[in-house]
Parts: sequence; structure tokens; C-alpha cells
Amino acid sequence: MSNISYAAVDRLLEDTLLTSDPHPDRILRHNAEAGLPAIDVSPLQGAFLEMLCRLMGARRALEVGTLGGFSTLFLARGVGEAGRVVSLEIDSNAAATARKNLADAGVGDRVEIIEGPAVETLKRMSGEPAFDLAFIDADKASNCDYVRACLTLVRSGGLIIVDNVVRAGLILDPPSGDASTAGARAVLEMVRSEPRLRATALQTVGVKGWDGLAFFEVTG
Ligand code: SAH
Ligand code: DHB
Ligand code: MG
Repeated sequence: MSNISYAAVDRLLEDTLLTSDPHPDRILRHNAEAGLPAIDVSPLQGAFLEMLCRLMGARRALEVGTLGGFSTLFLARGVGEAGRVVSLEIDSNAAATARKNLADAGVGDRVEIIEGPAVETLKRMSGEPAFDLAFIDADKASNCDYVRACLTLVRSGGLIIVDNVVRAGLILDPPSGDASTAGARAVLEMVRSEPRLRATALQTVGVKGWDGLAFFEVTG
């Protein structure tokens, strides 16, 4: 049988490109022990988020959907020691696991995890200093609400990233009753009615199968 697969190539890329680092692996292990689903971004995607933050000079990142803090670790590294990440999570077990994971990884002091339904939390955040970057990766059905909130919370020239916008191609014809796929498609369509967003998206394959990330630049 052939060993050639998207996942095998991802492993080669991880082994070849990423610096050896115990913290991401430790987080995934703790997440499994805490019973959290293994739906974190991949290590390569995490490195990409970190790189984007650093290249933008981002000091403040907003995340919607913390899970065990795997993606949060990369955002926290990307914003640097003087930076701040605010991450929103509805599940108290996930939030507690993430807080512990991020403290263990040495970035706990620059991350604030706010528990509760993110739409409600975002409503209370209007007084916050603007964010440079937002990463949306929670319940897909609420994607449009999250992007709308981010339009008021992310600075002009900032970036909104939305995970899981391809869903193995299901967005072509969202199955009826599948609110997640409908939300993945809807967030792409809302760009047309939002003149402040300049958008693109990249399909991805790898350890997470076939999916994609959307990138919305906030202009004006
Ligand atoms: N960004 C994480 C993965 C997030 S998984 C990573 O890559 O490591 C999606 C998370 O969104 C789950 O932890 C889930 O509990 C959370 N979530 C789902 N609905 C939510 C809501 N309404 N408000 C806030 N968080 C929510
Ligand atoms: C799922 C959620 C995600 O955010 C992801 O990246 C992959 C899968 C899920 O709910 O199955
Ligand atoms: Mg995701």
C-alpha cells in the first residue's frame, strides 16, 4: 500500500520545517486527557498563524473558539511578550484546560480566556482597544455574527481569519440541516455585502483532511 497521503506529507513538512518544541505536543496530550476533541489547527497552520501575527506586528489578537489553547499558543507567541490574546470559549472544561496549557507553555500571562457564548461576550467588548487580528474557529453557524462583531473590534488594516470554510467541499451544496456547512458558506457570501472587507481564501489539505481558511482584510 502507498504511504503517500496528505497527512504523511504534512508530517514530513512538520518534521522538516518546524523547530522541535515540546509545548504543542504537550497541549495535545493534555487535551486528550481532558476529553477534548482533536479538532485543533494543525501544527503547520499554527506556525502560519504565528508568522502572520509577527509579520503584521500584531500586538492584540482575538480568538473565537479556544478549545485547549493549541491555536492560542501560536497567536500568543506571534504577538510577543508585550502582546495580548483574548480568546473566547463556551465550554468550561476547555477553558480550564486551555488556561493550564498556556500557563505551562509560559504564555499564560499574555492570554485572557473569557468563558461564555462568544456572541454575548463580543457584545460586551466594544470598549476594548482594537485588535490587529482575529481568528474565528468556533461554532460555524455563528460565523457571520462573529465577522460582523470583528468589523467593529478589529482595526482598519487588520485581518480576520475564518477556519473551516471548505469542509471537504460540502460548501458547494450545503446538506440541508447542516448549520455548520451553511455557516461556512454564508461567511464567504457576506463579503459581497461588506465593502470594508477585501477577501481571499485558501483550500488546505493535510492532517485535517480537505478544508480551507478565509482571510478578510479590514479596509477603510
Ligand atoms: N481554535 C482551537 C479549536 C477550536 S474548536 C484550536 O485550533 O486549537 C471550537 C471551539 O469553539 C470548541 O472548544 C467549542 O467549545 C467552542 N465553541 C463552540 N460554540 C461556541 C460559542 N457559541 N461560543 C464560544 N465558543 C464556542
Ligand atoms: C471541527 C471543527 C474545527 O474547528 C475544525 O478545525 C475541524 C473540525 C468539527 O467541529 O468537527
Ligand atoms: Mg477549526
